[in-house]
Amino acid sequence: MARLKLGILISGRGSNMQALIAACREGRVDAEVRLVLSNRVDAGGLAHAKTAGIATCIVSHRDFADRAGFDAALDQALRRAGVDFVCLAGFMRLLTPGFIESWRDRMINIHPSLLPAFPGLDTHRRALEAGVKLAGCTVHFVRFETDSGPIVAQAAVPVLADDDEASLAVRVLAAEHRLYPLALRLIAEGRVQVAGERALAKAPTPPQSALLNPPD
Ligand code: GAR
Repeated sequence: MARLKLGILISGRGSNMQALIAACREGRVDAEVRLVLSNRVDAGGLAHAKTAGIATCIVSHRDFADRAGFDAALDQALRRAGVDFVCLAGFMRLLTPGFIESWRDRMINIHPSLLPAFPGLDTHRRALEAGVKLAGCTVHFVRFETDSGPIVAQAAVPVLADDDEASLAVRVLAAEHRLYPLALRLIAEGRVQVAGERALAKAPTPPQSALLNPPD
C-alpha cells in the first residue's frame, strides 16, 4: 500500500494532532504529515506543528459567505499539499456533503465517546447525566451525519463515581492519544476494509478481556 500523505485538520489545542505527528515521526505509523490546517488563527496546535517543521495553513471560516466556499478552499489547500488522506483532530466545523463525498473512505475523525452514543457537543456532560459506567472514544470514517460513519476502532475507560466533565475528559483524552495512532496504523497497513456502513479492522491480536465497571 502506498504511503499515506496526511492532512490533519484542527480547530484548537491539537493534542491528537501531536499524537499523530509523533507516531509518524517515530515510525509507528507509515505515513507522512503533509499539512496541518486550522480554521482558527488562534489554534494552539499550529505552533506545535510549525515547531515540528510541518507545513501549516489557516483557512478561516469567517472569510467565506457559506460552507460550500469554505469547504472548496479546504479541499484546494489539501490537494495543493499533495494530501491523499485526511484526519480530523478536534476540527469543530460541520463539513458539506460535497466535501465529505469527495473524501469518502479517505477521511477519519476522532470523537470522545463510544459512538453511536453521545455524538456532537457536550459529550462528557451527557455521558455523566446518562449515568453510563463506561465512556471512551471512537475513530471512524466520516459520513454526512455529525460524528457518524464506519467505526475503525474504539477505546473504553471507566466512569468513576466522583468524575466531573473535566476529570472524565482527561481520562478519555489519554485513551484518544493511544487510539488515534493505532487506527491510523491499521489503515496505513491496509488492514481496514470498509463495506457499506461497517469497517472491518484486522488487528494482529484480538483483545481477550472485558472491562467491567464496577469491577468484580
Ligand atoms: C478531542 O477530545 C476530540 O475527540 C474532540 O475534540 C477534542 C480535541 O482535542 N473532537 C470532537 O468532539 C469531534 N466531534 P485536541 O485538539 O487536543 O486533539
